[in-house]
Amino acid sequence: MKIAIGSDHAGFRAKETLKLALAAAGHVVEDVGTRSEDSVDYTDFALKVAEAVSKHGADRGVILCGTGIGSCIAANKVKGVRAALVHDGFTAEMSRRHNDANVLCLGARVLADDRIRELTRLWIEAPFDGGRHERRIGKIGEYEKKA
Ligand code: RB5
Repeated sequence: MKIAIGSDHAGFRAKETLKLALAAAGHVVEDVGTRSEDSVDYTDFALKVAEAVSKHGADRGVILCGTGIGSCIAANKVKGVRAALVHDGFTAEMSRRHNDANVLCLGARVLADDRIRELTRLWIEAPFDGGRHERRIGKIGEYEKKA
């Protein structure tokens, strides 16, 4: 998969570790930054990842900030993006199976690095169940068209 990844300063170190793991698993990783632990605005990097998915052909996106909350709020403003804030295996899997989430948001100040890697792997591998869930997410797309 082509995966866009980004973080703010709080997620920088976790991003560096996670991107190596994703590349080692055979994914094509596009790192949109940030490039250091210097303070930046999570908004900028969340929107870059979301746009990579929405407009520039990335299959999925992963964003890390301190809690994952701000990044998730920002990413969900971008058309066609369904960003999910995930804390555990259940929410990681269900965000794919029921919500067809195409962007994963993680809190680097909440989760240990190995947990972040494991949740990301689960999230990438989980399929979308379709069926009634297709209809439900379709309504989000319809709303976006009118908004
Ligand atoms: C940065 O201090 C922090 O606010 C940010 O990483 C994130 O947690 C925002 O939601």
